[in-house]
Amino acid sequence: MTTTVAPEHTLTTIGVLGAGTMGHGIAQVFAQNGLTVVLVDNQQAQLNTALKAVDRSLAKFVDKGKLAADQHPATMARLHTDTDISVFAGCGLVVEAITENEAVKIDLFRKLDSLCPAETLFASNTSAISLTRMAAATSRPDRFMGMHFMNPVPLMNLVELIRALQTSDATFNAIKSLSERLGKTPIEVRDAPGFVSNRILMPMINEAIFTLYEGVADADAIDSVMTLGMNHPMGPLKLADMIGLDTCLFIMQVLYDGFKDPKYRPCPLLTRMVDAGYTGRKRGRGFYHYD
Ligand code: NAI
Repeated sequence: MTTTVAPEHTLTTIGVLGAGTMGHGIAQVFAQNGLTVVLVDNQQAQLNTALKAVDRSLAKFVDKGKLAADQHPATMARLHTDTDISVFAGCGLVVEAITENEAVKIDLFRKLDSLCPAETLFASNTSAISLTRMAAATSRPDRFMGMHFMNPVPLMNLVELIRALQTSDATFNAIKSLSERLGKTPIEVRDAPGFVSNRILMPMINEAIFTLYEGVADADAIDSVMTLGMNHPMGPLKLADMIGLDTCLFIMQVLYDGFKDPKYRPCPLLTRMVDAGYTGRKRGRGFYHYD
């Protein structure tokens, strides 16, 4: 099938949808690498917090000598925010990073599909949801794929690139080159629940939560076993707090529904924590407390 894909050199204005934990980091790396970015969220407060977080992160890069001082204001100047998705009409690529909920994502991609030019590429930062199903909801399934950044985005090298069944080679290659331009290492995987990263990581986190739930050890002890004993840079419960417990629960539900295998059953404690609003670092409380 011949497809029209925006040539890579026209991918100069990037839309990022969702300014939460991931969205602001994604927007930062694009802007830091010379691209104009429009970051959209339906909550103005999230946009304000996102701009502050990017500003802080850039200041740290400058302090550590990893970014020239003049690139701090230059990066901020390339980053624009809005609460209205119609600003995406001028973008060569839109990367979606809203809450991990398939119905909400599909609804937004349908809207984006009607307002963006046909050659605009769509990517989702979903942790686990089927790219094939999301692509099928648009009129450009060949120009749709997964671009799964790792948290915290400015520091982590990997981008898991997920091909939907319909993704064209032209789309894949354009996104791969763009990922390399960001200084990231892209790894190609196929569309399956949780892809590679969360198929392996999330059951480990869920098992750590079961270990806590069953009273085998407290949170500190569980995390210490994994940092001291397995050389993990961060324990699984602390990592769950950083990812967001709501996101962890969504991912476990996608694995459970997708594979129909009880080994992916979300731990009841994870469900209860999310019900209580203890979603981790972003809300000040998860398995640990944060200022
Ligand atoms: P988050 O909860 O921190 O942020 C989500 C943002 O989306 C919020 O700012 C919210 O206001 C916004 N939003 C929700 N509905 C919207 C709508 N209809 N229109 C505009 N904005 C809307 O979530 P987070 O953690 O940033 O996750 C975003 C995506 O990235 C999810 O798909 C998640 O699975 C994925 N992801 C998350 C990682 C993590 O460590 N948290 C790692 C890699 C991927």
